[in-house]
Amino acid sequence: MKFSSPSTPTLSIIFLSTSLLQLTFISSQICQRSCGKLPFKFPFGSDPGCGDPRFNPHVSCSQGNPIFTTHTGSYPITNIDYTKKVMYISDPSMSTCSCNQQSKGFSLDWDAPFSFQDDNVFALLDCSLSNSPVFQQNSLCTDQKNNSKVSLCDNQGAPICSFLYSCQAISTINLPISTCCVYTPVDLGPAFEMDLEKLQCSSYSGFYSFNEHESDPNSWNYGIALKYKFSVNNEYPDSCVNCERSNGVCGYYGNYNSFICNCPYGINTTNDCFFGASYNYGSRLRSLQIGTWLIYCLAWLLVLVL
Ligand SMILES: *[C@@H]1O[C@H](CO)[C@@H](O)[C@H](O)[C@H]1NC(C)=O
Ligand SMILES: *[C@@H]1O[C@H](CO)[C@@H](O)[C@H](O)[C@H]1NC(C)=O
Repeated sequence: MKFSSPSTPTLSIIFLSTSLLQLTFISSQICQRSCGKLPFKFPFGSDPGCGDPRFNPHVSCSQGNPIFTTHTGSYPITNIDYTKKVMYISDPSMSTCSCNQQSKGFSLDWDAPFSFQDDNVFALLDCSLSNSPVFQQNSLCTDQKNNSKVSLCDNQGAPICSFLYSCQAISTINLPISTCCVYTPVDLGPAFEMDLEKLQCSSYSGFYSFNEHESDPNSWNYGIALKYKFSVNNEYPDSCVNCERSNGVCGYYGNYNSFICNCPYGINTTNDCFFGASYNYGSRLRSLQIGTWLIYCLAWLLVLVL
């Protein structure tokens, strides 16, 4: 029995579909819409060319793990609140109620578009009583008319310190003399720096919320909350709204960091991803784009058949 000849166009169509599928598979969207379980939206980008160029050196996606990087290290991003424009990170070297460990501290890069959220509390732990500037007279912080010492610790933070010392992990440091200082310059001064070597402290603890259990340090939200800013009024760029609505990811290219919309299947446009979008746009532009694509596919088919 012989197969009939009309099967050639059918075979071509099958071949075309397969090669298109492969094309799709190979050149998939470069900019990822999420990193692990965390949605990645403007201004953040998973790769170079994605998101806002000013954020690219500081936020990345490494094998499904969202990472925030400063000159003091790389920190897992635990959450991003796109409405409040706050990013939450954890510092694996910091001490918490369940874990006490040595740390070198934490610093922001001065030129990064991030700042500390007001709710952050930093407690410096186990600082040298004789050498640490947090307890010593600091010429920068001395009131010239009144010669009394100005401490870098917040006296009203004393309850926080006693709660932290109720944690078994923390109560074991350097007994009987250990210290705790709720650090007042929470924006870490002009250098945005909490250098524990300079401050002569062996570790620190940081949290951004009591998590409604003020007297239970076990349930506090440990980590650091950072505000971010991408423009004067922090308004979402219109171009980006449309791009994301059509399953695209906002990105940039070229010498002038021009806006691009990185669409599924690796196609970049200067506006958004009308084609293949699963919602009803109903605009003339959309039909025009679909028309272009149909012509494109027909041309391919002809090339393959002939
Ligand atoms: C699309 O944009 C991404 C992100 O900028 C870039 O990496 C990629 O090379 C671009 N692809 C094309 C086909 O221009
Ligand atoms: C110095 O400041 C402290 C605390 O603010 C205050 O109690 C004290 O009276 C001041 N001393 C003088 C001489 O002004």
